Amino acid sequence: MDAVRRVLIGVCGGIGAYKIPFLVRMLRKKNCEVKLVLTPSARTLVGQEALAALSGNPVYLDGESRYDMDHIRLSEWTDSFIIAPATANTIAKIAAGIGDNLLTTLCLSIPEEKITVAPAMNTVMWENKATKANIAALGSRGISVLPVGTGPLACGTSGPGRMLEIEEIAKHLLSHSEGKKNGWQTGLRCDKQGVSLTGKRVLISSGPTEEPLDPVRVITNRSSGKMGAALAEAAIIMGAARVTVVSGPASEPLPRGAEVIPVRTALEMQKALVEKFPSADLCIMAAAVSDYRPLNISESKLHRSEEEIFTLELAPNPDILAGLGASKSPCQFLAGFSLESGDEISRAEEKMKKKRCDMMVFNRADTALGGDSTAFTLLFKDGGKESFPVMGKLEAAQVILAKIIDNFHRAAPCGDI
Ligand code: C5P
Repeated sequence: MDAVRRVLIGVCGGIGAYKIPFLVRMLRKKNCEVKLVLTPSARTLVGQEALAALSGNPVYLDGESRYDMDHIRLSEWTDSFIIAPATANTIAKIAAGIGDNLLTTLCLSIPEEKITVAPAMNTVMWENKATKANIAALGSRGISVLPVGTGPLACGTSGPGRMLEIEEIAKHLLSHSEGKKNGWQTGLRCDKQGVSLTGKRVLISSGPTEEPLDPVRVITNRSSGKMGAALAEAAIIMGAARVTVVSGPASEPLPRGAEVIPVRTALEMQKALVEKFPSADLCIMAAAVSDYRPLNISESKLHRSEEEIFTLELAPNPDILAGLGASKSPCQFLAGFSLESGDEISRAEEKMKKKRCDMMVFNRADTALGGDSTAFTLLFKDGGKESFPVMGKLEAAQVILAKIIDNFHRAAPCGDI
C-alpha cells in the first residue's frame, strides 16, 4: 500500500468549485488524506457539509477562532497544496505576497514547491496582461501553474480559461508522490524548484499525416497518436504553461488542457509548426510524417482497372524537423523520434545530427507501434545515451520529459527550464 499523501485543497470563488467534491473523492480513493480551505467567496459556491463528509475532515474557513494558527498547522501537515479553482484575484494576491484570508496566508507559510495552482477564469481575464505577469511571477518562484482548458465557460462564451479537468489535476498531484518512490520519475523533478516544466511552452507534433490521392484515398502511416497524446498529458501534469499539439488525424483523444491544431497533410503540419515554433521553449516531433505525397491529386475518384498497372508519382515532403533544427535558437530544445524496424541505433544518431536536434528518441516498430507501451533509447547530441525497458506510454512520456529537463538544464546557456 502506498504511503498516505496529505493534500490540502484551497478553493476560491470560481464556478469550477462545484467540481471539487469529485476531486476530493478521487484523491481519497488514491489513498490521500484531504483537507480543504475555502475563501469567503467560495463558501456560496460549494457545500461545506458535503466537503466535510467527503474528506472526513472539517472544512477550514476564515474567522473561525477554533482554527487559530491554522496557517501554521496546515502548512506543517500538508505534502501538496492545490488551489483549484484559482481565480485571477487570488492569483494576483499570491503574486504580490498578500495574505488577507486563510488561503492566501497559507501561500506564504507553505513552501512554494509544494504549491500548485489550477487557474480558472473568463478568457479576457486569462489573457489580461496583469494576469499573465502574475502567472509568470508564480512560475518564477517555483509554484506549479497548471494550464487552463479550452471550451465553454460559465459566462456563456467559449475559449481558454476553464479549470483543468479534475482527472488531470489529480494525476499532477499524484505524480509528485510517485516521484518519491522512483528516482527518475517526473514527480521528483517537480518536487525540486526550477526543474519542473513550470512556465514552459511545449509544442508537440503527433499522429500520422494523410496525403490525398483523390477525394477518397490517402497515403498515411500506421500511427495511433498515443505517444503524442501521452507527451501532452505528461507535460500538463508536469506543470507546463502551455501545451500545443499539432495533430494529424489520429484516433487517440488528446488531453483537454492542450491547445490542439488539427492538420491533415505534411505541408499543413509544417505550416502550423513553423508558426508555433518561435514561441515554444521545447518542441517534440512525435508525428509520423509521410515522407512523400502524390505529385498530382485527382479531383474525382480514380477508377480501378484490372488490365493496367497503376503508377503513382510521388514528390518528397519537406523534412519538418530538419527545418525547425535549422531555425532553432540556443534557448530552445528540439527532440525527434526515430522509429526503426530493427536495432539501427546508428540511423537515429545520424538523423539527430542531420536534423540538428538536441535529442532523439529511438524505438522499434515491433514494440512501439499502435500499442500502449514502448521500450526506447534516448540519444543526446553531446553523445549521452540511455536505454529504458518497456513501460506504459504515459510513463515513457514522463521519463522523456524529465530527461529533457535535466539535459536542457545542463546544455542550454539560457535554459532556465
Ligand atoms: O522519418 P524519419 O525517421 O526521418 O523521422 C524522424 C523524425 O523526423 C521524427 O521526429 C519525425 O516526426 C520527423 N520528420 C519530419 N518531417 C518528415 C519526416 C520526419 O519532421 N518529412
